[in-house]
Amino acid sequence: MSKYIINGCNKIEGTLRIRGAKNAILPIMAATILNESISIIHNVPCISDVFVMIRILESIGCKVSYSEDTLIIDSSNVNFNKIDEEYVRKMRSSIIIMGAMIGRLECIEISHPGGCAIGARPIDLHLKALECLNVKIEEHDGVISCCRQYLEGNEIRFERTSVGATENAMLAAVKARGITKIYNAAKEPEIEDLQNFLNAMGAKIKGAGTDYIEIEGVDKLDKVEYSVIPDRIAIGTYMVASAMTGGRLEVEKAIRAHMEPISNVLTNAGCNINYTESGLTLIPPKKIKTIDFLKTSPHPGFPTDMQSQLMSLMTLSDGITIFFETIFENRFMHCKELIKMGADIKLLTDKICMVTGVESLCGGKVKSTDLRGGASLVLAALAAEGETEISDIYHIERGYENLEEVLRSLGADIRRI
Ligand code: UD1
Repeated sequence: MSKYIINGCNKIEGTLRIRGAKNAILPIMAATILNESISIIHNVPCISDVFVMIRILESIGCKVSYSEDTLIIDSSNVNFNKIDEEYVRKMRSSIIIMGAMIGRLECIEISHPGGCAIGARPIDLHLKALECLNVKIEEHDGVISCCRQYLEGNEIRFERTSVGATENAMLAAVKARGITKIYNAAKEPEIEDLQNFLNAMGAKIKGAGTDYIEIEGVDKLDKVEYSVIPDRIAIGTYMVASAMTGGRLEVEKAIRAHMEPISNVLTNAGCNINYTESGLTLIPPKKIKTIDFLKTSPHPGFPTDMQSQLMSLMTLSDGITIFFETIFENRFMHCKELIKMGADIKLLTDKICMVTGVESLCGGKVKSTDLRGGASLVLAALAAEGETEISDIYHIERGYENLEEVLRSLGADIRRI
């Protein structure tokens, strides 16, 4: 298995251009199933999760080509209704295929995704939303069967906010008869991007980005050409790299409204962030300031997907920071690895930990345990004295395109072996 070898203390500086968001492209790729035609999607990141989704689409009959940053998906012939367990095991978010598949086919089968490293991750909200739209659901031996005669618009009231369940509900409702009203919808920018993509195909959806989404069912969708929004989490990760190493970073094509939950916190940590017409500039602090308290919350709160990267930043701050993870149960796995690199972190409960800033981190051998936790180790290694070896980097490659090339172009001493 591949590893990164990083020699720390180089400044991460220069100009960064990040491609489309992982969490936007995956539901958009699922959405192409609804379109019995061609979808052309630009700004697609070259990450392993995209390749898993390509294989899923091919396994049900879609023809897919991917070159440069453009995906062309021909979904005119969807002729298989089961999603193999292997794919669901590889990528839990393949569950978002359900809503689109049941929009296209009368009966579908998919394995239950189960929990994953960062938490139990139930799918009750996804299933309840589909049931509201007239889908009959049965589960036997870990396989979920969904059947419907026709989908019928309805009111869906989520008792908890879920990004994936909101997306599944939208996908299933696009071709349902009548109006679907989604209450307590998740408000993430990627949900707005899914709405924009579906509307570009001829769907009638409004409200995404707020907690109320309304969908008027349509009979047919049409071919589409679309470009995905930039990845706010990838951008945020590189911003932290610059902040930790004292480099100045210019980011092209960052969308201010998407970045603010992250950039406001980085400003509190002493970064000077200026938005321009085309992106943003980050000037690092001389000494990283503690942000005192960081609580993850659904958008527009601070994203759980940036929690571990911020923790790396705070390991070098001038004080104590309390982290409160409210979204997933097991998202502190990186702490143990950061401690090996000299960080002062105390786990107070499963969801709360205390980070006391230290003068410097040191290189060592660490293991990436999940996608964002792995990214936090890369950040610590970039700022640490000496060499760090990070194993199990396949987690990181699920969500960061050419991480080592991008970092090298910004001044890092990093190799992938
Ligand atoms: C998406 C993102 C992930 C991000 C997360 C939270 C994608 C591909 N992934 O994941 O990167 O970390 O949003 O912003 O977009 N829950 C239930 N029942 C359900 C569904 C969810 O209890 O049926 C719970 C989850 O266990 C979790 C919380 O709701 O505690 C939020 O999860 P959710 O928003 O659904 O995350 P994902 O869509 O899986």
